[in-house]
Amino acid sequence: MFSKTPQPDSHPDPRAAPTCPPGFPPGFLWGAATSAYQIEGSPLADGAGASIWHRFSHAPGTIANGETGDVACDHYRRFPDDVRLMRGLGLRAYRFSVNWGRVLPEGRGRLNRKGLAFYERLVDRLLDHGIAPVVTLYHWDLPVALDERGGWANRDVAHWFADYACLLYRSLGDRVELWITLNEPWVVMQGGYIAGTLAPGRRDLAEGARVSQNLLLAHGQAVRAYRAEGRHAIGIAVNLEPKYPASGSRADREATVRADAYMNRQFLDPIFRGEHPAEIREMFGAAWPEFSDEDIALARSPIDFLGVNYYTRGLTRHDPAVKPHRARNISEAARRTTEMGWEVCPEGLIDILEWVKARYGNPPIFITENGAAFPDPLPCQGIVDDPLRVAYLCDHLRAAHTALARGVDLRGYFAWSLLDNFEWAEGYSKRFGLVSVDRETQARIPKASARFYTEVIDTHGACLLDR
Ligand code: FCB
Repeated sequence: MFSKTPQPDSHPDPRAAPTCPPGFPPGFLWGAATSAYQIEGSPLADGAGASIWHRFSHAPGTIANGETGDVACDHYRRFPDDVRLMRGLGLRAYRFSVNWGRVLPEGRGRLNRKGLAFYERLVDRLLDHGIAPVVTLYHWDLPVALDERGGWANRDVAHWFADYACLLYRSLGDRVELWITLNEPWVVMQGGYIAGTLAPGRRDLAEGARVSQNLLLAHGQAVRAYRAEGRHAIGIAVNLEPKYPASGSRADREATVRADAYMNRQFLDPIFRGEHPAEIREMFGAAWPEFSDEDIALARSPIDFLGVNYYTRGLTRHDPAVKPHRARNISEAARRTTEMGWEVCPEGLIDILEWVKARYGNPPIFITENGAAFPDPLPCQGIVDDPLRVAYLCDHLRAAHTALARGVDLRGYFAWSLLDNFEWAEGYSKRFGLVSVDRETQARIPKASARFYTEVIDTHGACLLDR
């Protein structure tokens, strides 16, 4: 928790950081990120098993405008062109996720060779173009067959996940050097099992508590399996928000501590410190099952790096109606918000990175997602001018640079997202891409923000200091 709430005009100017050398270090990894369900399309092609997102998006009333990922960016069929596009943008790395059910249609057991071959070809193509593949094993698309056995609420999921992970380590491990077990376990639990706004759409606090624990066990099993099978690096990607109290009242300050425990510490404390925050037990109450010493030891399996997804801060207000943490985010009138309604707060990135450094012993960090949805103008003569996204990226990259200069072990940055894509419950209405995608023709047009990012990469960030 952060006791001092930054004001829009009072935060330190990242450019003024005293020890800031110009630019990012050589070897800093510059990339962009996507996930399978959001871009691939062809969800059932070549023998793939359906995922919970396929089922959820086809249920009435779940997604804005009734949209689905059936076509998305048609990346499953267009990936060679997309890799060429990435090369043209100068990306050094590409973070994507594997759709579990393409590879194992029932989630376990029988292998679907054609599904695996897709990811093998993608990895090979990336390497041919000098782009490092970064693989996320799970970005929210659980096979329906496993959900029918209880999904993340069934403790066996840890073994199912580790077996699936092993298959990928063995198939791609000679070519992939960076692995991410789970994307945003907090969102999987909160959106999928408590709020029910994301697949599988359940609303059950006790189930959410079990899911929280099983996600940790699955992560730990996959890390352990990697130690036996893998030779490079593995980590996890979490969504973090520095939490600030909305007022000086005791209720808001206590709510801020709970919100911080719930979102920021729920998974990282067990992983790095071998214990759950006390607030988690308090807020779930009787719904929180015992977590044994063996479970904790598994969750604590050492990781090589932490992935941080950062979009906004959390200005926190006490709200007893919000279960289980009795707190909600509000936004300040003076702040710009993105189209998602999220406050733009680049200095929050410095705070959260410094917090990770201090609390968890300065682990190597990649910013595995950062970006913004704004209403883009229609392409005009092949140009999409998106100055708000350029400003967002510029300010956050400066913040990342400041964190680096203050001793955070930051190793790379991945913009979310390469392409305009299927933004979960928002459908295609929210566009995060550096590259615009025409929904009718699938034509890709790099936006001004893509050109800007290319310049950042080419100059190792030195151009940020001149803007
Ligand atoms: C993150 C998700 C990612 C994308 C961005 C906007 O929570 O990991 O898939 O939807 O938000």
